[in-house]
Amino acid sequence: MYKYITVNKRISDKGEVMNKLEKAMNYIQNNKQKINNKYRMSFHVIPTIGWMNDPNGFSYYKGEYHLFYQYHPYSSEWGPPHWGHVKSKDLVKWDHLPIAIAPDMPYDSDGCFSGSAIEHDEKLYLMYTGHLDPTKKPEDIRQVQNIAVSSDGINFEKIKENPVIGTNMLPKDAKPQDFRDPKLWKKGDMFYVVIGSRNIDNSGQILLYKSKDLINWEFVNTIARSSNKIGEMWECPDMFEIGEKNILIVSSQFMKSEGDRFNNLHSSIYLIGKLNYEKGEFEHEGYYEIDHGFDFYAPQTLIDCKGRRIMIAWMNMWGQRWPTHENNHGWNGAMTLPRVVELKGNKLIFIPIEEIKNYRTNGYYVEETITNDFLLLPFRSFSLEIETIIDVSNATRAGFRLCKGKKEETLLYFDRNENKVVLDRSDSGEGPGGVRKTTPNIKDNKLKLRIFIDRSSVEVFINDGEQTMTALIYPSDESNHYEIFADGTAKFSIIKWDIRV
Ligand code: FRU
Repeated sequence: MYKYITVNKRISDKGEVMNKLEKAMNYIQNNKQKINNKYRMSFHVIPTIGWMNDPNGFSYYKGEYHLFYQYHPYSSEWGPPHWGHVKSKDLVKWDHLPIAIAPDMPYDSDGCFSGSAIEHDEKLYLMYTGHLDPTKKPEDIRQVQNIAVSSDGINFEKIKENPVIGTNMLPKDAKPQDFRDPKLWKKGDMFYVVIGSRNIDNSGQILLYKSKDLINWEFVNTIARSSNKIGEMWECPDMFEIGEKNILIVSSQFMKSEGDRFNNLHSSIYLIGKLNYEKGEFEHEGYYEIDHGFDFYAPQTLIDCKGRRIMIAWMNMWGQRWPTHENNHGWNGAMTLPRVVELKGNKLIFIPIEEIKNYRTNGYYVEETITNDFLLLPFRSFSLEIETIIDVSNATRAGFRLCKGKKEETLLYFDRNENKVVLDRSDSGEGPGGVRKTTPNIKDNKLKLRIFIDRSSVEVFINDGEQTMTALIYPSDESNHYEIFADGTAKFSIIKWDIRV
């Protein structure tokens, strides 16, 4: 009990006793006006102030979408995570709510790490990882799973039974230092959870547990393993059904690059197979990268009242330069556009949620054929959607110079020689550069693209979501022009809308 009080209660500068939640909320209230707005997005979830990473607890509860996220309000760098919280009726316009949970208990005192949410008995249950780092020596780290409950979807209480899954419930070959990011779902009258784990051989694996009441859990089995072949530690698993298939999502650390695939520090991938719930066995074949750009990690999905499987991810990547942090803008981190996930053949496709169309304005349509030339398009914007079909029959290269200014541009084009869509942010502005490529499935010589620009982000959906490419870019204020270009001849049909939220 003593420990509880010392961890939970803090004395403010003025001498009054405050808990960590109030302390964080006061900090946000008193400091949010100080942030620099230059690179802030308008139709993506971003923090009011401070640092954001993984999406957590993505759920549909009492008619609204709820999204929590890894949140450190006090700096634009990672620090002991709280759970930030936003909600929305349409997945586009989000309201910021009070922080849901803070690291204030003996079983989560160094961070409320990632986790998920589920509705049960009309209440919203969060399951999250309590991170314990008592000596700052890696071998002493422990991670355990806890529950917090709310009946209004805003105020959460951690339950007295925490931790509900401790390190004593790990299989023998799992390390207690890396055991995190529980993702819950229900099948029949049983709750299941998948949790990321590190095997004693140091590689990632996914553990499955089951429970009737979300409080008493039983280990079922280790359902998938990297065996040091598919990256190292596996973080942020998600498991869901589409049709007859089960999809396992994992965010795999330090995957080795294979040609155009897995070129970021860490990679989010999916495995398709069939889960045997009784035996806890997941038969699967192959593994696929989810997004082919630079900034996409730790995705999580929900199923909504319309039966849609919707994915959202942290639109960022560990271990890179962050201009809003380096230049003291006071914030860092964003979520991707929510994307509907469907199965097409044996692959997943990703489609922007249709609600975004309600925010289209200033429509502009043009058809142009250009030969060994370029053409400046007659609009300027940092918040737009471009839908285009490019006939590439007679082109060696054809595409866009996005967010173009005197010296800056983000290149997006089809390269016939390589048969690739190329996203090149080498000259995008401040921030990290680099090139990413992916092989599209070109039908009738036509490439179909949907491009979303939101000040410091670009998201590309290729051929109705067969591939996506997501990137952060940091162009200067004047770089809001758009240009098309072709080597050889290309015909462009372009519709552009501004997106105004
Ligand atoms: C993934 C991750 C999770 C962890 C969280 C901590 O980005 O490393 O595994 O729970 O971030 O903020």
